[in-house]
Amino acid sequence: MKIIVKNSKKEIAEEVSDIIINGVKENPRIILGLATGSTPIDTYKDIIEKAKEQKVDFSKVTTFNLDEYLDNPDETQSYRYFMDTHLFNGININKKNTHFPGIDNIGTYDEMIAKSGGIDIQILGIGRDGHIGFNEPGTPFDSKTHIAELKEETIKDNSRFFRSIDDVPTRAVTMGLDTILHARKVILIATGENKAEAIKSMSEKNDVNCPASILQKHQDALIYCDKEAAELINK
Ligand code: PGA
Repeated sequence: MKIIVKNSKKEIAEEVSDIIINGVKENPRIILGLATGSTPIDTYKDIIEKAKEQKVDFSKVTTFNLDEYLDNPDETQSYRYFMDTHLFNGININKKNTHFPGIDNIGTYDEMIAKSGGIDIQILGIGRDGHIGFNEPGTPFDSKTHIAELKEETIKDNSRFFRSIDDVPTRAVTMGLDTILHARKVILIATGENKAEAIKSMSEKNDVNCPASILQKHQDALIYCDKEAAELINK
């Protein structure tokens, strides 16, 4: 695991979008693992712009998203809707090649990923409590795709996207920590001072109380932080 500190979230988006665009150019059949949340939005915007400018073909790319809400009555709050809006509708990806975990494929999602050849690059955000995907503190490091109960802090954080906190689903299906660790390359992005504690703990301890700390075991994990997110770590 390598921590890379950049001056701004704009710089991070420029660099991470380059990694993805170059990955697709080198391997048009690349398998991408994707994340939702506010963190990757700038990166997705840059990918769309660069794909247009450089005429990059996404038609053979396959994607697996990290997670999806369960019991979510509002389609516009689904992570499928988020990905369509922030990335898929802006590139020429074949939606049939875009996958999400859900109630019907909990037991087979890891197998689907493995059969497709495995994830080449996995994009991640991080929660204030150190979660990745919906793997909250306490989730075993050997977990596969599973149903997760959202912690109160996560429900509160996610309520900013909903009309009221009561509308936030309390369960989700998420790739497990072992699923994520299997990706060949992992890129975790953390921006803003509210992520500083999580970055500090993922860089110091390595235990289930900080799920992101599993990445210490990964051979090719890049942790992109802006100055604010990196302010509590020793450089
Ligand atoms: P955020 O969420 O990008 O909206 O901060 C990150 C996460 O919870 O993984």
